[in-house]
Amino acid sequence: MTRDTDSRDASASPSERHASDGEDWHSSVRTDGSGATDSAAGADEVALDPWGSSSVADYRKLFEEFGIAEFEELLDSVPNPHYLMRRGVIFGHRDYEPVAEAMREDDAFAVLSGFMPTGDPHIGHKLVFDEIIWHQQQGGDAYGLIADLEAHSARGLSWDEIDEHSRDYILSLLALGFDPEAGTLYRQSDNREVQDLAFELGIEANYSELGSIYGFDGETDVSHMQSVVTQMADILYPQVADQPKPTVIPVGPDQDPHMRLARDLAARTRFFGVTEAYASFEANETERRLIAAAYEALDGAAARTDGERDTVRCEDVADWLREHEPAPEEARQSVVEKLDAAGKEPVRPRVRLLDRNATEDAFEALIERIEGEKRVYENHIDTFELSREAADELARQAELDHGGYGFRPPSSIYHRFMTGLTGGKMSSSIPASHISLLDDPEDGYDKVKSATTGGRETAEKQRELGGKADECPVYELYAYLLADEDDEFAKDVYDECVGGERLCGGCKEQAAELMSEFLEEHQEKRDEWEAKLDDLDIDLDSDRKRQ
Ligand code: TRP
Ligand code: SF4
Repeated sequence: MTRDTDSRDASASPSERHASDGEDWHSSVRTDGSGATDSAAGADEVALDPWGSSSVADYRKLFEEFGIAEFEELLDSVPNPHYLMRRGVIFGHRDYEPVAEAMREDDAFAVLSGFMPTGDPHIGHKLVFDEIIWHQQQGGDAYGLIADLEAHSARGLSWDEIDEHSRDYILSLLALGFDPEAGTLYRQSDNREVQDLAFELGIEANYSELGSIYGFDGETDVSHMQSVVTQMADILYPQVADQPKPTVIPVGPDQDPHMRLARDLAARTRFFGVTEAYASFEANETERRLIAAAYEALDGAAARTDGERDTVRCEDVADWLREHEPAPEEARQSVVEKLDAAGKEPVRPRVRLLDRNATEDAFEALIERIEGEKRVYENHIDTFELSREAADELARQAELDHGGYGFRPPSSIYHRFMTGLTGGKMSSSIPASHISLLDDPEDGYDKVKSATTGGRETAEKQRELGGKADECPVYELYAYLLADEDDEFAKDVYDECVGGERLCGGCKEQAAELMSEFLEEHQEKRDEWEAKLDDLDIDLDSDRKRQ
């Protein structure tokens, strides 16, 4: 390998990015400024806009502002995590625990993601393809869909363009390892079940809500709004096509507004709500926590020497709370009022099933199904011998038996956006910024060779100070793609770079060669699949040619 710094690269580290010195190697691929404390004006405004520009300057804000959780915290609970998980490229999630649990327990789960066929699939899309395929290999029911209705309405593509690009997305997904026999491929425009589900889900959302989530206004066309409910239906489709199950949607963080809405809509269709309670009255979660603390203290004290227990009554709990004054003040006052009103009623932990949208038949059927002691009220049932999970399962069954969906809230995982090869964001509309999966291997080679790096002005400086791998799009190529499964290789590139042993000329040469090999192999596999495409259960020639 040549060991001199390519002087063309010396320039460039995009100004909004910051070194994250001292971070461990795991987070070293985070070249997005996640270690930043400040940033260029406007550049790190956190806006999650599915149809806007998809660059995120500060991923940490997503945790604080939107409640996206850090993936790293549950990495240990994921069996054989994918390298994108190990390297922190998949950085966040919403409610992924049930999916990880299903993988551990060999239970059913699903994975689904969708692609707008607006251009060539590129190496940024490969991340999502890989995520789908990996979950499929871990035993998940896998779905890959073409968001052609969205591309037509939100991006104005013609059906001819859509047909061409759809084929390309499907071929790359297959070439990377998606198993179409075990999984499902579909186009939104062709999937009647999805469209029907979209219609039903549309009943649960109204115009003002879509307006405030997506910034729609009076000029927004109706089909664009329809593409939103279609995406909601995509996300929940695996649970309708089969049975309710944990489902993960791998996407970029720009899609998070869709995830939040999908989770809301899924909950709104549910027949029953399940909560915990201590007495006949309703209490919110904070109030319940206060009762729990008091009850635990009092119940412990209530154990008598003869093995019996004194009954703890609502008024005792009220007294305890008045005496001990646990925070928060407001909740304590309101719950003390409720407890006083309940007076001598014994406090007993219970699981409560609330009737939200249930039919009368479903409500009756649920009562029948509950074993052990129960109390039936006008709009809820209290059960005394069921765990919350068991109650949840019964409620779901009663719902399914009576025409409901029984949805579990869908989960998501979020990956970092790749930096463009020219610095800034990777964009389909700037060919030099990305490598298309359809690029000639030589073009891919050339694009890597002329990419921006995190190198120093001169070879001497690079040897002395080391390169800035954290700010280097070429390092990202290694970590996100070229090193594949080989963590040690990725780590070596990193260590050699920051240690000043690796210089950009040789480093890019190696990356360029690996890239052209990857493209060549990928395109061979695409060709093999091309021949088999007609046998697959997906129609790649749209009937909708009028527009
Ligand atoms: N809106 C997504 C995009 O812009 C495409 C999409 C449609 C999608 N339906 C989906 C993504 C369901 C994930 C899940 O790329
Ligand atoms: Fe240069 Fe390679 Fe280091 Fe990037 S990773 S700065 S290309 S040596």
